[in-house]
Amino acid sequence: MAATEKQPVTGAGPFNGILTWVDRRFPLIQLWREHLSEYYAPKNFNFWYYFGSLAIVVLAIQIVTGIFLVMHYKPDAAQAFASVEYIMRDVPGGWIIRYLHSTGASAFFIVVYLHMFRGLLYGSYRQPRELIWIFGMVIYLCLMAEAFFGYLLPWGQMSYWGAQVIVNLFDAVPLIGPDLALWIRGDYVVSDATLNRFFSFHVIAIPLVLLGLVAAHIMALHEVGSNNPDGIEIKKHKDPQTGHPRDGIPFHPYYTVKDTLGVAVFLIVFAVIMFFMPEFGGYFLEYNNFIPADPLKTPSHIAPVWYFTPYYSILRATTEDFMWVLAAAAIALAALIVLSVKSARGKIGTAAGTAVLLAGFSTLDPKVWGVVLMGVAVLIFFFLPWLDRSPVKSIRYRGNLYKSALAVFVIAFVVLGYFGTQPVTTAGTVVSQIFTLVYFAFFALMPWYSRMDKTRPEPDRVTG
Ligand code: HEM
Repeated sequence: MAATEKQPVTGAGPFNGILTWVDRRFPLIQLWREHLSEYYAPKNFNFWYYFGSLAIVVLAIQIVTGIFLVMHYKPDAAQAFASVEYIMRDVPGGWIIRYLHSTGASAFFIVVYLHMFRGLLYGSYRQPRELIWIFGMVIYLCLMAEAFFGYLLPWGQMSYWGAQVIVNLFDAVPLIGPDLALWIRGDYVVSDATLNRFFSFHVIAIPLVLLGLVAAHIMALHEVGSNNPDGIEIKKHKDPQTGHPRDGIPFHPYYTVKDTLGVAVFLIVFAVIMFFMPEFGGYFLEYNNFIPADPLKTPSHIAPVWYFTPYYSILRATTEDFMWVLAAAAIALAALIVLSVKSARGKIGTAAGTAVLLAGFSTLDPKVWGVVLMGVAVLIFFFLPWLDRSPVKSIRYRGNLYKSALAVFVIAFVVLGYFGTQPVTTAGTVVSQIFTLVYFAFFALMPWYSRMDKTRPEPDRVTG
């Protein structure tokens, strides 16, 4: 046998013959080793490390239940609502498939928000994991698109009017806005044409992209190795004999067992919600969506599903008066940058950029800025790896400045989320405006407070 030829699979297994046959034609054993049995992960993973594998589980639930829903659903404005009712009442097991899918949508966002929060806790977005984070952020954008397109499909009042409100936002884009909104809808109002294209994106285009991105996300993770609650690199201390990190353990069997426990607990909680409170008080399935879409009757209160509401609050908080506050905040930030950067070019560039921004504030409609701010609120996460200047990664060794900033940011996200579900009131708008400022301050001031923070020295080896 040539030296490069693969050895047969050894050990007492009933499938060894088949495995050897496959492995001679496909790198099965190599993939298993690289990504599972010989992927060395830090030994100190904690609760926060469950959510990556849970996201994979929820993705699988959504795809499988989606396939069965499509067998009975009709992407036709005249039949869509009734076909969902038919699934709920007449298709055997249809109600369970539909509730799995609708509860799964919210579960996806809960899991992904907790997964992202872990990144903020332990600085998992920092060098050398920037690309894992960027793939993650693109996944997050795709998830938002997937949820938005999917929500139109039941053709209820909220489906219809939610899509109407969001697509109309594109109207605000200078010059091309109305044409752009028309192009997205395929009609002058949300209609059958819109439903058909949203269906196409929801069932095939975005899921395909999502699957590819998840593969890229995990490949990037396995290239550089996982971070951990101490935020230190386990690859720095390798056993000279085996070449494996001293603080690492093989992903399989150790973390496959740990993740199985996480999946079991998750499925119990998921089943309780799905069986006993699938609407979750109107947060997972909005009550107005049990009424068929009526293009002639606008609901008095239109709100997106909870996972979009922090951004929706930011959109609604951007009133004409608030533009003054934004202008003052932009000037203050520009002054801070001018004082901090050393190069004359940097100072002039900042001043010029701010002048252009202020000119835009005074000329363009606040509605446009609401849309811009909402977009920036999502996209700003992409820049975290470069905004964070702390000498340490993990919250364990950061000082009170970062800890307080993160706590206040989480409060802002939740408060904005809550007000986004509520009808507009003056008090609600003021609170949303305050927390919009807090939200952006977390990112905009990070280069300063993350550097000023009194950090503690990181340990050399993981602490458990
Ligand atoms: C469908 C959605 C997603 C899936 C299936 C997924 C899957 C995973 C898995 C399996 C891991 C390794 C296990 C773990 O560390 O928990 C991981 C790690 C990671 N993910 Fe995701 N992810 C998703 C979305 C996101 C998003 C939206 C972000 C951030 C914007 C993100 C950022 C990260 C980072 C930074 C790591 C490395 C964490 C570390 O090593 O500490 N992921 N992901």
